Amino acid sequence: MRLAVLVSGTGSILEAMLGVGLPVDLVGADRPCRGLGVAADAELKTVLVARDDWTGGGATAMVGTDTIAGVDAAGGADETGQPVGTAGTGDGTREPEHGTQRGCFDREGYSCELAAVLDGRGVDVVAMAGFGTVLDGSFFEWGDGRYRGRVLNTHPSLLPAFPGWHAVRDALDAGAAESGCTVHVAIPEVDAGPVLAQQAVPVMPGDDEATLHERIKAVERELYPATIAAFLDELAAARSR
Ligand code: GAR
Repeated sequence: MRLAVLVSGTGSILEAMLGVGLPVDLVGADRPCRGLGVAADAELKTVLVARDDWTGGGATAMVGTDTIAGVDAAGGADETGQPVGTAGTGDGTREPEHGTQRGCFDREGYSCELAAVLDGRGVDVVAMAGFGTVLDGSFFEWGDGRYRGRVLNTHPSLLPAFPGWHAVRDALDAGAAESGCTVHVAIPEVDAGPVLAQQAVPVMPGDDEATLHERIKAVERELYPATIAAFLDELAAARSR
């Protein structure tokens, strides 16, 4: 069973996965980011399928571990470890702020290309960990539905509350007393799909987006790897039956 993790930002969830020995075979990204450096430091295979190449029909950039090793520190995260925003938002993993090409992005082309790359590497299960590109149905339908039901995601809210790219900010703006995180099976609809695990996190007086998100991520770093491990075990058991 080959597991790929998709990242766009800091990669702290990926670090947690590696810390507990989750069998990650490949790390993919849609842009240069610290997460790729985390993978390279762990001597994992990496692949960059750059979304910028799909804003006008460009080619996919595939980057091996050796090449990417020197890129991580400069790309994707500031000194606090937070992703660098592309529009001054401080959250570079958030797709709507990605560059100026919004609306020109060939989502279907990108989704097919990413599926083909992962399939070509024999990937069976995909775990999104702060991946900043919404994949459309063509990803899930690739190869007769190879990735249908095989893509997992972690989201920083108690879904169905606060879907979208600003879940932590939205929870604060709504005056929620608690938020949390959700691990779910991804489907073409954004931040939807069968829930595998959820854990609440209290909103504390004086919380801002960064402090609340960090408290949520601390939970995600335990809940997500454990849920992925259980998912892989179940899949392996089902295959051997
Ligand atoms: C995590 O909080 C994850 O839930 C969120 O990005 C963060 C990644 O952190 N994902 C989403 O918001 C997806 N909708 P990291 O880059 O430090 O691993």
